[in-house]
Amino acid sequence: PFEWYRQMRDDAPVRYDASRGSWDVFRYDDVKRILDDDETFSVDPERANDFVEPENEGEGLILQTMLFEDPPRHDELRGVVEEPFRPRAIRQLEPRIRELTTEILDDVLDDADGKMDIVGDLAYPLPVMVIAELLGVPAEKRDQFKTWSDTLIESAADDVDTQAYMEEQRQVQMEMAWYFLELIEERRENPRDDLISTIVTTELGDGSHLSREEALGTCILLLVAGNITTTNLVTNAVRCFDEADQFDAVRGDDRALTTAIEEVLRYRSPVQAMTRVATRDVDVQDATIGEGDRIVVWLGSGNRDERKFDDADRFVPDRAPNQHLGFGHGTHYCLGAPLARLEAKVVFSELLDRVKNVRVADTELSPLRSSFIYGVESLPVTFDK
Ligand code: HEM
Repeated sequence: PFEWYRQMRDDAPVRYDASRGSWDVFRYDDVKRILDDDETFSVDPERANDFVEPENEGEGLILQTMLFEDPPRHDELRGVVEEPFRPRAIRQLEPRIRELTTEILDDVLDDADGKMDIVGDLAYPLPVMVIAELLGVPAEKRDQFKTWSDTLIESAADDVDTQAYMEEQRQVQMEMAWYFLELIEERRENPRDDLISTIVTTELGDGSHLSREEALGTCILLLVAGNITTTNLVTNAVRCFDEADQFDAVRGDDRALTTAIEEVLRYRSPVQAMTRVATRDVDVQDATIGEGDRIVVWLGSGNRDERKFDDADRFVPDRAPNQHLGFGHGTHYCLGAPLARLEAKVVFSELLDRVKNVRVADTELSPLRSSFIYGVESLPVTFDK
């Protein structure tokens, strides 16, 4: 998409896409301004002129989470899980994340003949295991989670039967909801030291608790938001490190590794776009966006904006400063950023500790079908033990 972004930044930085019925915004400053101004640019899809009420309860759940609520409700919903995701709390998880990574690598490297698939063998299983454990969900359920979260982020490709696609999405949302509902009810009775318990027992400012739907939505959000995204951060990092020949440079050097991962978030942002709804008529560049219009905010394009970054189209592993928008910006800045960063760091420090000469295999890569998530379906690599 990067060449297209560049053209759009130059020729049509803010434009109306009649086929999608929404605006697109491509430049860094405009993207950042929109994310910064949550009064004018709401995350709540219900405020869009073309909003259609979801037909069932399951689908509506995610709409009641922090991701799709504006302040003040946003702040209350986020407040419930803010503590456990702070950098300091997340740092405590490092030994356990190393353990899980080692388990995965033991398994993979044991019978790998110098070949593995970064996505399926490593970058997918780790975040699922970590978030499942944090939530308090048994690890046996993780294959189920993969299927669920994969389905939920898929966009309807042009050639699919929309009816069948919608039906599948609904079905998955319901299954997931039923599963979490059981856990929620159980934790209400017997709270433990896990996120589901935090979600159901934490009191809001007025002494109330999250409603059943809000608790459920929050569980599903944490699961979905953290999996595919982190998988693609790791996968995209392998591609970047391979192309820029950085594996040896980041091996054993946590500082270099951390900086390089930030550059991956800029250069190959796992989340390419977010949406907003204008709450009033507002001018951005030469365009007037109408109240109730939907806006696609292209983080992935802002992150390549040559107006903001020198050598924007080059992967610069030691780029500093690096004010990328890969985790968003402002009120909805990614809650899971410290966790995602830690997972990525641990994956590479453990992997590179055990293998040498990592090379992306010379095969055709298939991009993910989603236009909002950037990554590939699988990434075969070769290495020496
Ligand atoms: C929000 C990206 C990992 C949970 C966001 C947003 C972005 C993002 C761009 C902003 C959404 C908006 O402005 O509308 C990413 C990327 C990740 C990642 C690139 C991995 C590399 C995670 C993880 C978790 C998580 C591991 C949790 C386990 C959330 C939540 C929000 C969010 C709950 C909503 C925050 C709010 O609305 O206040 N993420 N994310 N993310 N992310 Fe992440």
